[in-house]
Amino acid sequence: MAQTPSGLPSKIAILPGDGIGNEVVAVGRRVLDLYREKKGLPLELWDLDLGADRYLRDGTTMPKEIFEEVRDHCGAILLGALGDPRVPGLEHARDILFGFRFGLDLFANVRPCKALDDRLVPLKGRSAKDVNFVVFRENTEGVYVGMGGNFKKGTPDEVAINEDLNTRKGVERILRAAFQHAKAHGNRTVHMADKSNAMRASGDLWQRSFKEVAREYPGIEAKHVYVDALCLYLIQDPSKFEVIVTNNLFGDIVTDLAAALHGGLGMACSGSVHVKPDGSKIVGLFEPVHGSAPDIQGKDLANPLACVLTCGQLLAHLGWTEEEARIERVVQLAIREGKCTRDVGGALGTKAVGDFVIERLAAEL
Ligand code: NAD
Ligand code: IPM
Ligand code: MN
Repeated sequence: MAQTPSGLPSKIAILPGDGIGNEVVAVGRRVLDLYREKKGLPLELWDLDLGADRYLRDGTTMPKEIFEEVRDHCGAILLGALGDPRVPGLEHARDILFGFRFGLDLFANVRPCKALDDRLVPLKGRSAKDVNFVVFRENTEGVYVGMGGNFKKGTPDEVAINEDLNTRKGVERILRAAFQHAKAHGNRTVHMADKSNAMRASGDLWQRSFKEVAREYPGIEAKHVYVDALCLYLIQDPSKFEVIVTNNLFGDIVTDLAAALHGGLGMACSGSVHVKPDGSKIVGLFEPVHGSAPDIQGKDLANPLACVLTCGQLLAHLGWTEEEARIERVVQLAIREGKCTRDVGGALGTKAVGDFVIERLAAEL
């Protein structure tokens, strides 16, 4: 099996999933294919037929053999989105998405929020230079773990509980990943967002851990912000922020808000990774922040640029770090020249944006 500069295997699982996931991953796949064909990167693309269609067809969500093959022999997963109105309980989405996030212990969900053009910033008096931060979202704990349940369901005395699970190990490692990123990128501040004024037990753990981990990074200012106030400040002055670290649920919510600051969900990329204490990595999960967008599915309206940027993150994960910036430049050009979809001010369809990206990238490789 070929290796990548990171030492990870060069096999990439391609999992388009549901709705517009299929449309945007078709473009992302072309990007990776171009790198293979034109630049000779040793990438082996492995197409997976998993998602709502498959689940409705034969009940399959995440086969054990596929999970093990990904875990043991892949360097990355490119995932589109999961979620389909025909599966209201989202059973397949949970098995696949959480199957990877939890099953591979991908604790750091890294969501960069960077405006690539002034036009994408909707705030009055603000421009692209004001929106450039990254959110480190804890990805394996919190209310997502599914602890809890129902009691007397369907009766007037019904009770529903979702526990918010926080462990010292889990909190500490996401905080450290955020500080480590800040250090590596020359950032001066890390903001930790919580709701410790209301959630006393978990808040206390986050607060103490934050102070302790911060001591390992004396050059970086450790700032606390309540997550409700963070939403306010992000709109008032996003330039205050460089690195934000928070829990699973707050990270999910804040990153949709943050996406709106730089063009919307069609521009927001993400990677879920596990960094070992010695700095080495395991297979990572790369997906746009957006979902399956049933409202625009099948209409050639979906913006594929979030998925294209996600491919940049994926290649960087495999060790081709300079390609992330190259891909970002091509995406920036697509926006600047109006070769983009309607959500970001253009008039092209998903496929035509893909054609533009491939053409410009091919010219550079
Ligand atoms: P969504 O992200 O799918 O869509 C929210 C809004 O943003 C919609 O108006 C949609 O049209 C727009 N949008 C999203 N991506 C876009 C793109 N690339 N280009 C242009 N417009 C885009 O969120 P939702 O509607 O709340 O959820 C739909 C389904 O997706 C649900 O089942 C949800 O659970 C699932 N979901 C999955 C993921 C994932 O797999 N990682 C992420 C978020 C939501
Ligand atoms: C995301 C999504 C998922 C999440 C959903 C589909 C469970 O919103 O990746 O941001 O909440 O993590
Ligand atoms: Mn989300």
